[in-house]
Formats: sequence, C-alpha cells, structure tokens
Amino acid sequence: GFSARGLLFTSFHDSHFILILSFIGKRRFKIQKDFLVEVSQVINVGVAGPMMGIIQYGDDPVTEFSLKQFSSSKDLKPAISKIVQKGGLSNVGKALSYINKHFFSDANGNRGGAPNVAVVLVDGWPTDKVEEASRLARESGINIFFVTIEGPDENEKQNVMETNFVDKAVCRTNGFFSLSISSWFALRKEVQSLVKRVCDTDRLVCSKTCLNANDIAFVIDGSSSVGTGNFRTVLQFVANVTQEFEISDTDTRVGIIQYTYEQRLEFAFGQHNNKADLLNAIKHINYWSGGTSTGAAITYAADQLFSKSKPNKRKIMIVITDGRSYDDVRAPALAVHRKGVIAYSIGIAWAIQDDLEYIATDPDRDHSFFMDEFDNLYNVLTKIIHNICNEFNSQPRN
Ligand SMILES: *[C@@H]1O[C@H](CO)[C@@H](O)[C@H](O)[C@H]1NC(C)=O
Repeated sequence: GFSARGLLFTSFHDSHFILILSFIGKRRFKIQKDFLVEVSQVINVGVAGPMMGIIQYGDDPVTEFSLKQFSSSKDLKPAISKIVQKGGLSNVGKALSYINKHFFSDANGNRGGAPNVAVVLVDGWPTDKVEEASRLARESGINIFFVTIEGPDENEKQNVMETNFVDKAVCRTNGFFSLSISSWFALRKEVQSLVKRVCDTDRLVCSKTCLNANDIAFVIDGSSSVGTGNFRTVLQFVANVTQEFEISDTDTRVGIIQYTYEQRLEFAFGQHNNKADLLNAIKHINYWSGGTSTGAAITYAADQLFSKSKPNKRKIMIVITDGRSYDDVRAPALAVHRKGVIAYSIGIAWAIQDDLEYIATDPDRDHSFFMDEFDNLYNVLTKIIHNICNEFNSQPRN
C-alpha cells in the first residue's frame, strides 16, 4: 500500500511542538519549568523546526509564547524561567479547544504539512471534560500526548469528572501517547523518553494525511446489466480501495450507496468504525438488480451521506457504473461539486463517456476512468489512491 508518512512528514526537522502546562503548587511549578527547559534543549528548536510554544492553563488557557516567538533552544531557556504562575482550576478540555482553534494557526507560525504535537502535563486530574475537545483536536490532526503526574488517590477518584480521561484524550490508546509518572521528582528522568516519542514522526498517526482525513462515499450501480459475478468484483474493488485507508471514527470514514432506479443506503459514515467491520460489511452487501438512475443516486449520496460529513474531512465520492444513466447526471453532479465533494467516476462496459465526465471533478483525466471489462477494475486502484494523495498534498492545510 501507499505510505502517507512519506508523502507528508518530511522529517523531524519540520515538526512543531507545543507543551501545555498546568501549574498547581509552587514547588511543582518550578519542577514543571525545569522539565520544560530540559525538553526545549533536547529537542533542539530551530528555524527549520521543530518549533515550540507554551500554553499555561488553569481557569482559562493563556499562550505564554507562540510557535514562532522563539527560534532557538537558547532563547527559550530564559523565557521559560520567567513564566509566572497563574493558578486556578485545571481545565484541560478548555485548553485543548483553545489550541485547536487558536494555537496551531498559520498566523501563529504553523507550517502546513508539519506534524502538530500537543503534550499536556496534568497534575492530578482535569477539572473539566476532555473527551469532546480532544476528539475535535485529533480530527484537526493534532497528536495529543498526556503526561499525568501524581494522579488521584483512592479518596480523590470521586472528584474526577471523566474516568479514563487519558484514554479518551490521547491520539491512540496504545500506550505510546501517554506517560504516567508517580512522583514529581521522577519527571526529569522522563525527558529523553518523551522527546523520543514526540519526535518519532512515523508514529504521529494523528497527523492529517490523505489516508486518514476523508469521508468517502461509494455510489455503486446495482443494475441488472452488472450481474452477480461482476457485482462481487465491484465489492472486491471497493474493499481494496478501503483497505488503503486508516479507518476509525476520527480517521477516514466510509459510506456506501447502491442504486438502480432507486437508492439504498447500505451503511452511513461511521457506522462501521474499524477496518475489519467495514470490510466485512462490504462483503455482505447484497446485489439488488434493476435500472440505472445515476443522477438520483448522486443526489441521494449528498442527502444521506455528505450532509453528515464532518467539517474537517475531505469529502470524496466514487461512482462506479456500467451503463448509461436513465436520468440526468449533470445537475446532481454540479450540485455536489459545489458543496466541495471531490468526485471520481469509474465506468465499465456500456458506461457513457459524457456521464462519466459530468460526474467527475475537473480535470477529468485525473478523476474519470473507463474500462471495457470488470476484470480490469483492479487497475484503477493505484491511480485513485495516488490521485487522492496528490490532491491532498497540494492543497493548503491548517
Ligand atoms: C483486490 O485485491 C486482491 C488482493 O490484492 C486482488 O487479488 C484482486 O484482484 C483485487 N480485486 C479488485 C477488483 O481490485
């Protein structure tokens, strides 16, 4: 398969870091600052990256310095030492919303394509909810790490708003994105380990890539001319395309519509949230058989699928048909193009070139494919993935 990493992450020298601080208690405050000074020295901040900014959170988050404010580790050191404690609650969710909306903006020094990392230091536990805010941040491509220090003891656990808040917040729950430290005095020993992780760009899987940031709708022709055997081949092709993407609720989601004269929602975006379930569901789609109203099917995809698309996902539609549409495709296709859907058309056998080109986003050469036989469908796989990724990488991102 394709490696998105190769396309997107240039190197460690092109990454961003932001460390978020929670300050509670004077001694801890100093320990946190010392920790950040060390991190800032070890990651070697420079103009070519990585860059580092700091937010202090409490009742409300405050940017101590943005990504572009200091361009070397040397300059960061005295700046970190001068940070003054603000105190207050430990509103981590609020802080995550803030970094998502304001911190990683181009105006604040963000560079498109470089991975964004947020390391959240939590003393004890958050005083607000983090799940929703962190999900939105992850969907924008921010890799969230949690460092929890001296978590709640048995008596304090009842004060925690969300149990398992770390698992709900981090980029992936595989242990890579969370560090639990039993005592403040042990924090220093974790500098190397933390820096190693945040710089391991191959594992920063929450970064937005062409493979994890899409809502993909397959609109497949179930008309009588296709036949059972060819319909199986189409499903196999759909499965093969799906296989290339990273599938989860916060990554790429897939929805499928089968159509004849009528339309049927086989499943909606997010209905199958992992690859195994999704591939299994694709395998079990039943062939319908009937007429061919491709235009109505595209409108149906807009209503049933893309209207529920998330704002930070790329909307991709892949229409697969083997014949002339009985209805007009031009107006429905134009309407979805206007809504930002990137449309691909794949025609087989009796499919009509004009239909295919109306459906496809321009340039047609990159979005429209035709072949005489269903057995040649597999040829389109690499072209389509390649195109989706090329297009993704040539567009501005946050
Ligand atoms: C799907 O992938 C399998 C395994 O790589 C391959 O054998 C098959 O020809 C592909 N089929 C289609 C229709 O793409």
